[in-house]
Amino acid sequence: MLPGWMRHIAALVLMCQVFVACQNFYDSDPHIIEANARNFDKIVHGTNYTSLVEFYAPWCGYCKQLKPVMHRAGKKLDGVAQVVTVNCDQEANKRLCSEHGVEGFPTLMVFRPAKTYRKGQKNAQEKYQGQRTLKPIVDFVKSRIKNTVKKLRSVSTVQNMLVKQANTNLNNYVMVFFSSVDVTPAQYKAVGINWSDMVDLFFMHNRKLGKSDSEEDRSSAEKFKSAYPTMADSLQKIVDAHRENSDLNRLVLLDKTNDKVHTYQGKSMTGSEIAQFINGITGLTPREGPLSNRHDYLAALKSGKKPKKASKKKAQKPVRDEL
Ligand SMILES: *[C@@H]1O[C@H](CO)[C@@H](O)[C@H](O)[C@H]1NC(C)=O
Ligand SMILES: *[C@@H]1O[C@H](CO)[C@@H](O)[C@H](O)[C@H]1NC(C)=O
Repeated sequence: MLPGWMRHIAALVLMCQVFVACQNFYDSDPHIIEANARNFDKIVHGTNYTSLVEFYAPWCGYCKQLKPVMHRAGKKLDGVAQVVTVNCDQEANKRLCSEHGVEGFPTLMVFRPAKTYRKGQKNAQEKYQGQRTLKPIVDFVKSRIKNTVKKLRSVSTVQNMLVKQANTNLNNYVMVFFSSVDVTPAQYKAVGINWSDMVDLFFMHNRKLGKSDSEEDRSSAEKFKSAYPTMADSLQKIVDAHRENSDLNRLVLLDKTNDKVHTYQGKSMTGSEIAQFINGITGLTPREGPLSNRHDYLAALKSGKKPKKASKKKAQKPVRDEL
């Protein structure tokens, strides 16, 4: 039998361990990834995603102040950027923190991918020096999101592009977002990241669909029609509808192999809804995001469970049309 005071300490130690194991500073927030020295590189680098990283110490007063802001930033950035935290008070993370030049807490940094992806290349690191409130932080992160979505200036640009692509080995699927506003939503940019090398993404503001009767437009429309008769028909109807009512929002997925058009008009058009839409038609699984291996890996990290080996269901190779 241990003396009373020793039992007391033993119980305390046990409690702390249990506490540490099932709780972290961010209370296992589903939108925040608590990283450590072992998995930091895997989470932050080697991805086309932008990450907001907070290096913190649980005891620091400014970190406690920032905590509610980080919870809200995690929610706001859900699906478009990663929100990552590192506890620099933990012995195993100290080197990671000093290697990143962390001198005080909290330190906020943004890691963003290069314009052109190269394997093994690290994402660029940038210190956030702005106000530690929600909007400035979120806006800063959003301004660092990789954009692979191309803006179209007129309908003929779509047609021209598809005609040109007909003879190349580019992606079989093209998606165009016909939008009521002139700003590419961050969610849509994220879709571009998640489906890179499988679907080419374009953005078209309804108001740019103005009637055009130039020689060039008519000739590209004709070429388009002879290459893809069914798509040309459907696309024309869609364009007419959006000219008529510029408040409409619609996603249009063009399947070049089968000369087919699929459309989606969800209310909110979240990343996972769009992922389901693309997956339902193409059978492809995205590189990142809902339905991908990486998503499972990150979900496991967020829930504090041991991630499964991320190699079981290999992402499907995109289908290329042979012309
Ligand atoms: C990042 O995007 C490029 C295409 O833009 C792609 O080739 C590359 O595989 C992507 N990287 C990752 C880690 O998904
Ligand atoms: C894209 O992938 C990331 C990383 O897995 C995921 O968190 C996000 O929800 C996805 N976003 C979209 C718009 O598909």
